Amino acid sequence: MTAHISDERIPNNVDLSGDKRLQRALEQWQPHFLDWWKEMGPEGFQGDDVYLRTAISVEPGGWAHFDYVKMPDYRWGIFLEPKAEGRSIHFGDHIGQPVWDEVPGELRNLLRRLIVTQGDTEPASVEQQRLLGKTAPSLYDLRNLFQVNVEEGRHLWAMVYLLHRYFGRDGREEAEGLLERRSGDHDKPRILGAFNEPTNHWLSFFMFTMFTDRDGKYQLSALSESGFDPLSRTCRFMLTEEAHHMFVGETGVGRIVERTVELMKKDANEDARAQGGIDLQTIQKYLNLWYSVSLDLFGGEVSSNAAEAFAAGVKGRHKEATRFEDHTALGSVYQMEDVQGGKVVTREVPMRNALNEVLRDDYVEDCQRGVDRWNKTIREAGIQFELALPSRRFHRAIGSFAEVRSDPSGSLLAPTEWESRKGEWLPNEGDEVYIKSLMHAVHDPGKIAQWIAPPRKGINGQPFAFEYVRLPE
Ligand SMILES: [Fe+2]
Ligand SMILES: [Fe+2]
Repeated sequence: MTAHISDERIPNNVDLSGDKRLQRALEQWQPHFLDWWKEMGPEGFQGDDVYLRTAISVEPGGWAHFDYVKMPDYRWGIFLEPKAEGRSIHFGDHIGQPVWDEVPGELRNLLRRLIVTQGDTEPASVEQQRLLGKTAPSLYDLRNLFQVNVEEGRHLWAMVYLLHRYFGRDGREEAEGLLERRSGDHDKPRILGAFNEPTNHWLSFFMFTMFTDRDGKYQLSALSESGFDPLSRTCRFMLTEEAHHMFVGETGVGRIVERTVELMKKDANEDARAQGGIDLQTIQKYLNLWYSVSLDLFGGEVSSNAAEAFAAGVKGRHKEATRFEDHTALGSVYQMEDVQGGKVVTREVPMRNALNEVLRDDYVEDCQRGVDRWNKTIREAGIQFELALPSRRFHRAIGSFAEVRSDPSGSLLAPTEWESRKGEWLPNEGDEVYIKSLMHAVHDPGKIAQWIAPPRKGINGQPFAFEYVRLPE
């Protein structure tokens, strides 16, 4: 028996009720999704009413409908930005040709790989975050966690829609695979490294939503330029939700920094830990960790896959349409840093082969803006300390710097020196133990844990003290 999928159950703008084949495919998949959600989604809160935002249409105002919902009853919908008639491919080798409404045969494998890789990150992050509800610093934060979780679930639906609708039998198999892999599992891990890292406390959660979700923003942005129109339209809509995830991350870390400097000023030795807070040095270590694993998500600096996807008109640059003049990316070069013979050198790489790095450049700049805002808080408190993004050479596992060891400033190190010093730059066991010791649930409306400041304002015009999640007595 499969549940019958209706437009009421699955809000959509893809004429689900008129597409029987798609409806049947999703009817098969949906119970498996719900099983996965119950097994791997937020543990312990599935029966509680959560003040959530649900997308019910793509009309202005329709994508942000707020109400109390139990998470398993969330209406995971399928939304694409409305089709722009007459749209043509605007970069690569097919410039000027009409966009594709179906998958061109020769691009099938490439497109499927891109969609599966993106799709895999969505359930992975839900799995990584499944225990965090038990230690939420406030009801406001608990609600934000669950909002991120249900939306990652919806992003999975978005990718599964593309697989079911456009890739036939292989697509259906891939959609099942997305529910079978598990974050951090040795035998069936998620596809990308950062999505197998444990996110087992709130400092890591905020760093994840700041840095790792932001990789998602840039991947979606590049795919939203795609000549495969359904992919472009799907990613455009996902980006509206992604913005909230990065808000949660940036303001989450920002609120920790705010509380930290308050506690430092209370302490004779400016010791935040002595006051039950998180010291700036430790915040820097988690920043180093999550930023470096997120840099890896962009792939190798020099990449023939990136060149191929661009040439095919499948994956563009961030804001390709408005920020660039030459949309062929031919005849220009990128000055790329590399390490040769133990020294940092610069070499020229044909632009198309450097597109992962070009996207990473935009990402780095965006991350820096967030760090600047955190530093403003520290400066205004009169504290002498600056948080900083580490060098791109620091702690990399993919690409040109995977084999070298460097300190956060980018100076190359001998492997033995790296081994003996890495605990200064990355969270060590003691840091993990300390951070976890701070993590206790605060479930009274309006109350918040010691190590983080309350937000400036609540969600959807509600006050911070609003009962964002109704928990049993
Ligand atoms: Fe997502
Ligand atoms: Fe996200």
